[in-house]
Amino acid sequence: MTQADLVYRAGRSAAEIEEIYGLQDAVKLSSNELPWGPLPSVQEAIVQAVAGNNGVNRYPDIHATALRTAIAAHHHVTVEHIAVGAGSGGLLAQLVRACLDDGDDVLIPDPTFGLYRIMSSWTGASVRAVESVGTTANAAELIAQLRTETKLVFLASPNNPTATALGIDQLAQVLEAVPVGCTVVVDEAYADFVRASHVMQGKALISSFDNVAVLRTFSKAHGLAGLRIGYLLGRRRLVAQVSALSTPFHVSSMAQVAGVESLRRHGEVCARVDLIVAERERVSNAIRRLGLGLSQSQANFVWLPAGERSADLAQACERAGVVPRLFPGQGVRITIGLPHDNDRVLEVLRVPGLVEQLAPAWRLPTGEPARRSAELARPDRLDDSLADQCGRAYRDALERLGKPVHPSIDAWTAGQSFDALLAELLDTTDGEDFTVIETIVANIATAGRKRDQL
Ligand SMILES: Cc1ncc(COP(=O)(O)O)c(C=O)c1O
Repeated sequence: MTQADLVYRAGRSAAEIEEIYGLQDAVKLSSNELPWGPLPSVQEAIVQAVAGNNGVNRYPDIHATALRTAIAAHHHVTVEHIAVGAGSGGLLAQLVRACLDDGDDVLIPDPTFGLYRIMSSWTGASVRAVESVGTTANAAELIAQLRTETKLVFLASPNNPTATALGIDQLAQVLEAVPVGCTVVVDEAYADFVRASHVMQGKALISSFDNVAVLRTFSKAHGLAGLRIGYLLGRRRLVAQVSALSTPFHVSSMAQVAGVESLRRHGEVCARVDLIVAERERVSNAIRRLGLGLSQSQANFVWLPAGERSADLAQACERAGVVPRLFPGQGVRITIGLPHDNDRVLEVLRVPGLVEQLAPAWRLPTGEPARRSAELARPDRLDDSLADQCGRAYRDALERLGKPVHPSIDAWTAGQSFDALLAELLDTTDGEDFTVIETIVANIATAGRKRDQL
């Protein structure tokens, strides 16, 4: 790890790509932002906060009381359980200062959001990364790697960049296992986009565990990234410790009123999120039908695990005026935007020969297994009620093959959507063992046929 690796790099802008490639209409899909500006009433509230004798000439409320009260009401907790910050990134900076000293140990999954490593390193703590299983954090291995010096564990759920989410049972297992004095940060920046039923909100853990810090942001679903508003849900003591480490007036008056108004308009926020989720599913299914296995995204982006072909794929996108986020040697992350922007992404992947070029490096099953699975998973053919049967079939298949059963299998059988189940099955085999996938696909097909005959 060099010093340069410990500097946060933002997603490239459309203007940068336009200049490099001589383009005019590039679209930025590199930072997981929402494609729309603030809701009209939120814009109105911001304008009012700027103007007049009580506008931005005044300092904001230092305790952000109205905003914290609105957030607390939204989550049905009391206001002492809420700390607000300049984005969840700002709160991460406060958290590492509250929890870490020189020589402490920090655990993160790999890959995950870059700020965890960068900010932890500021304190002199050492950061260890635990390789994920396919695209999902390996909770069992994280637990196995805990030490008495481990003071922070970061778990983004859904994870950036892989877009998969952890089941609440897995989060609880980590929380139960960590040593005394270790805080688990459950970063739910993308929680609003989750549709898998096995993923519940981390705030459910706060009443049982005093060592959990749940992070949320207004930057994603609320479309307010430029205003920098994040919050932390946790036990009072942790909230007080983290709050004590903020700079005064760190959440601006515009941010405070915008956050309150956006929560008041939660129905409209959800309607926008639904549009993004529908587009995510459309894009994901189209990619799978091209014969490229894809994990089930629970966020507002998709993760293309192109391995050593990632830089080529990112460049192909950029030449076509789509700005993705490259993770060299690992994959390419692409934000879900407006339908015509997403179509541009699909056009890149449909360029003749590209899928064939990518396939050898792609980290999930490609070709016929991926195509057949995508075809079988079509919502008009199979519905969620089959997820349970498929989960069982998968467990049986693994046991028969003498393979370890993935710890989250019970979460899958507990009602995860069929598509998500299938995608995770593809993840777990990590491209190495299609026999398992083929067994599952056969089971699914039989289950589907039986249902059709009813
Ligand atoms: C997992 C995760 N956490 C936190 C953040 C930071 O968000 P904010 O804008 O609230 O600082 C991001 C931003 O991309 C993210 O992906």
